[in-house]
Amino acid sequence: MKTLIIANWKMNGSMDWVEKPAQFQSHLQVSNAKAHYIICPPFHLIGPLVAASQNTVMEIGARNCHFQASGAYTGEISAGMLAEIGAAYVILGHSERRTLFGEKSKTVAKKVVSADNAGLVPIVCIGESLKTRDAGQADEFVGKQLRKSLSDGADPANLVIAYEPIWAIGTGLTPTLEDIAAMHDHIRGVLATIFTDAAAQAIPILYGGSVNPGNAKEILALGDVNGALVGGASLDMQSFAAIANAI
Ligand code: PGA
Repeated sequence: MKTLIIANWKMNGSMDWVEKPAQFQSHLQVSNAKAHYIICPPFHLIGPLVAASQNTVMEIGARNCHFQASGAYTGEISAGMLAEIGAAYVILGHSERRTLFGEKSKTVAKKVVSADNAGLVPIVCIGESLKTRDAGQADEFVGKQLRKSLSDGADPANLVIAYEPIWAIGTGLTPTLEDIAAMHDHIRGVLATIFTDAAAQAIPILYGGSVNPGNAKEILALGDVNGALVGGASLDMQSFAAIANAI
């Protein structure tokens, strides 16, 4: 399985950021045969970044989509529209969508199917709050959230999961390596019950939450960690490439 190193730019970036794929490439030291490098920028930068990344190793994704193909959904964008401008991936169910915009796992499940139908790779985010972890319920919560988020007929052959504990996002805090490994193992076990064991083995499970050049190497070295979803440290290409170089 290839490693996926994905930048989630959230609501950051301007037109001059089209230089970032070339900057990333100039800092990249390891062979691109081992990994996929993806930037998920705000919508207005997808087209320009697709063009700017043509001769680089970079691929471009989006941070959200609606589950309908078109219609009266003011302010929304469909998976087909994202595919039309060259996006290849879409982040779905990020915790900021869930907590700030009330997005439910049932809705995420519909988006997963629409992304798949449009030819995009869905990157489904799941993760517990600190309260849930402290209560010893992280495994149960994440398992349920995963099941619900894939409940509309997800294709295991076109799926990426990102485990992002909410309390680790943008905080500088990360779970222990043992806790990350245990949760990824748990997630793969749940995927095996949703699909088949063989299908579950082939689904990339990424870790996200305060990944930086200092901790990337040990996190990416964990057996069941197949890549990273990076927020803050992905805005600067020297640090994002340092994470990629840590594979
Ligand atoms: P962070 O964000 O790397 O800034 O913690 C990760 C994410 O929200 O995907």
